[in-house]
Amino acid sequence: MPLSSRHLLGLQGVPKEDIQLILDTALTFREVLERPIKKVPTLQGKTIVNLFYESSTRTRISFELAEKRLSADAINFSVSGSSVSKGETFKDTIKNIEAMKVDMVVVRHAAAGTPLFLTKISNANIINAGDGIHEHPTQALLDMYSIREKFGKIAGLKVCIVGDIAHSRVALSNIFGLITMGAKVSVCGPSTMIPKYIEDLGVQVIYNIDEAIQENDILNVLRIQLERKAREYFPSIREYAKYFGIDRARLEKNKKSIVIMHPGPINRGVELSSDIADGEHQIILQQVTNGVAVRMAVLYLLGTVN
Ligand code: CP
Repeated sequence: MPLSSRHLLGLQGVPKEDIQLILDTALTFREVLERPIKKVPTLQGKTIVNLFYESSTRTRISFELAEKRLSADAINFSVSGSSVSKGETFKDTIKNIEAMKVDMVVVRHAAAGTPLFLTKISNANIINAGDGIHEHPTQALLDMYSIREKFGKIAGLKVCIVGDIAHSRVALSNIFGLITMGAKVSVCGPSTMIPKYIEDLGVQVIYNIDEAIQENDILNVLRIQLERKAREYFPSIREYAKYFGIDRARLEKNKKSIVIMHPGPINRGVELSSDIADGEHQIILQQVTNGVAVRMAVLYLLGTVN
């Protein structure tokens, strides 16, 4: 059964069956990653360009590894060192790359809607690796995979997304995906960082972090995006850490067994203390490992069903 779209632009409107198929396929690839030879010939002959106009460690390496594990030819493009510095437009760059017979494009860009724009000017399969404050679908898929791995299910679980909800593509993709899969989703953060429309998406708002810890099975803690001027939305980083940061004392005070997730990179001492970021509650590095399998599944499903 193929996916219902030949692109992955976001999780808004993606049917439950598609998400289920990606997660089930990722389970197969997760097993491949444990083998001594972590490679299958599935996408042999396919050429995939990783087009990163914004910084990335996890997503970029994870996609490149996923492509190599599937035997595709992976090409990495980054703005520095490219002809973008000579004034070449985004559209011209894409047209020239496509003229080299590329099958799939993985794109990260600061402008929301860039992946959608690419579908209008390219025949390749387009995968969104994070577009501005819009969506980051493969992050949410790997988060859901990790939740299912930990709990054996997604439906019925209570998941709270903590932090700058208004400017987070990870939050939005998680909200769409988790609600589709039957989880009960809440958000917690400073009121300046909670969008007014959020309850219309079926999400509960919690302003007190202790309440969020007590009421939920999972906290997915977001990075405070200092590069996107997040600092303007609360008085000081110290105050943010005091009221919304997760540390051992806060978890012990609430006497709660809870799973802590984080998409990375972590601002240690701000949204998570180091004893939590490295402690027994978190599954942060499992998320990263699972990300390769999930991206293999997405590439395989899109790359083999034109
Ligand atoms: N989680 C995430 O998108 O990390 P990177 O920005 O390092 O890719």
